[in-house]
Amino acid sequence: MNHRTTTPAAAAPFDVAHVPPADRLTTAVRTDRMRHPGFGRVLTEHMVTIRWTEDAGWHEARLRPYQALEFDPATVGIHYGQIVFEGLKAYSLADGRVGIFRPDAAARRLQRSATRLAMPEMPTALFTSAVTELVRADRAWVPAEVGKSLYLRPVLMATEADLDLRPAREYLFLLIAFVTDNFFPGELRPRTVWVCEDHVRAAPGGTGEAKTPGNYAASLLAQEQARERGCDQVVWLDAVERRWVEEMGGMNLFFAVGPEEAPRLLTPPLRGTILPRVTRDSLITIASDLGWSTSEEPISVEQWRRWADGGSLREVFACGTAAVVTPVGTVRSAAGDWTVNGGRAGPLAARLRTALLDVQHGLVPDRHGWMVPVG
Ligand code: COI
Repeated sequence: MNHRTTTPAAAAPFDVAHVPPADRLTTAVRTDRMRHPGFGRVLTEHMVTIRWTEDAGWHEARLRPYQALEFDPATVGIHYGQIVFEGLKAYSLADGRVGIFRPDAAARRLQRSATRLAMPEMPTALFTSAVTELVRADRAWVPAEVGKSLYLRPVLMATEADLDLRPAREYLFLLIAFVTDNFFPGELRPRTVWVCEDHVRAAPGGTGEAKTPGNYAASLLAQEQARERGCDQVVWLDAVERRWVEEMGGMNLFFAVGPEEAPRLLTPPLRGTILPRVTRDSLITIASDLGWSTSEEPISVEQWRRWADGGSLREVFACGTAAVVTPVGTVRSAAGDWTVNGGRAGPLAARLRTALLDVQHGLVPDRHGWMVPVG
């Protein structure tokens, strides 16, 4: 084992143990695995763990070989779901370096999610050190091609083994990474969506704006029902009136109206039930940079249909770290079906997707300071 200790910007130093050279995958095996990675299958060779206890705070920061972990059967996270997670990506840059996209934004959202689930907040500097250490160790797993990336998955879970129902007093931060190209095969192929009225993703006062596994587990049944109806994804409506569009699967939604050369981009406002995705925020900024007008305003299903039927709706697309930008072509609902842009992908989603990927791969100046290069 190759042990060394580095000092991250935050409190705890990292104890570093690399996979010994003799146990590393060969370049040929790694290259083969990275060819068609899909999403979430091609895991890298290292991981990070950091512990938190009431007495010691954040400690035992370790970069170590990827390995299975053991948990006490009475672990709080497993029983009561006191778990939050994140998703962010590292990209190869045009200058040969690797850059991580907006780790500070992911750190802040993890802190907000943790607060909502009565968990300790990890300092931004420690979070950034963790992702930087992992990307550095698994540098060889960052794909060179535009459109492929290294997806980083931080998780914070309650690890205390005591099933009294109260916030745990021990936590584990866990960070793994996998190579990805597409969350959806055929990325810009328009999707068919099912407007779900039977189930809701989040209710006012609930955990909708936190990135916590329960929100995803609760979405799976509706997602399956959407599939049974021949749809790719489910569109969530608000819990109170079942009328206002909130999200699509695990993605935020955008609606483009107006002329192609000066479109208006609309997205539902963040009022506690929608996950504030970093991609959503980045696309709003990029659209403004392009001179498009943007607005966060409630959009009803009836409005969506009226716009589509009246011809004023140019495009609808979803976005997220995993999916990047994905057009919606056909909408199915209990009240009937309609299409967006005749069911075809349009130029606006493609333009935003390219503009975002250009920044992420260092092909254009990073005017907002979003990329954190890894030395
Ligand atoms: C992401 O977009 O990164 C997400 O976390 C959604 C994922 C669960 C597929």
